Amino acid sequence: MTGILELFAKRHSFYDINDKISLKNSELEALIKKCMELYPSSFNTQSARLMLLYNQKHHYFWSLVEDKLLKTAPKDKTEDIKKRIASFAKGYGTILFFDDSNIVKELEKKMPLYADNFKNWSHQGNAILQFMIWSALSDKNIGASMQHYNPLVDDCVMTAFNVPKNWEFVAQMPFGGIESQPQPHSFNDIDGKILIEQ
Ligand SMILES: Cc1cc2nc3c(=O)[nH]c(=O)nc-3n(C[C@H](O)[C@H](O)[C@H](O)COP(=O)(O)O)c2cc1C
Repeated sequence: MTGILELFAKRHSFYDINDKISLKNSELEALIKKCMELYPSSFNTQSARLMLLYNQKHHYFWSLVEDKLLKTAPKDKTEDIKKRIASFAKGYGTILFFDDSNIVKELEKKMPLYADNFKNWSHQGNAILQFMIWSALSDKNIGASMQHYNPLVDDCVMTAFNVPKNWEFVAQMPFGGIESQPQPHSFNDIDGKILIEQ
């Protein structure tokens, strides 16, 4: 395997991360900006928005998530929750992913024929951006995972981080140096999943 397939194979969900990465913040930000520039979006709307959290803001974010989870989850899950959240907070930073809902609303009005699709397409574009950043980080030996504590944490995060009201919170990506490789996961048989006709 070479080239882009090698990179795809290198990307994983890395949960055992630390706070040391090989890039300077300026290099990391340049990499993320490049992905933001290059990702495809429906009608080229470029509706994805990001927030990059370092240091105290990164820790503050995960403390908010932990508080919310501990208030809502059964008591016997307390230790598991604390352990999982601590594993994300141990990383170097977190990227928050949003969609600009104003853009979606404008398109729904402008092209009623496709109105039902725009929100979904916006999420799909966002997911492609997530994958590009996830892969670009892997390429630099930075481990990341995708987390979705939505909608549980949405209100408190929007307020705590002064997120514009039209930014819809869709996902969060804790990242950091790779402390250990994840266990390999199984792959389902590809047979029957791709139909080839000629
Ligand atoms: C749309 C999507 C949502 C996901 N949500 C979560 C999540 O909330 N928490 C998590 O730990 N992993 C999440 N994952 C990661 C998957 O569990 C993981 O990609 C899958 O098990 C394959 O493992 P790999 O990433 O190491 O290849 C998500 C992945 C995708 C594509």
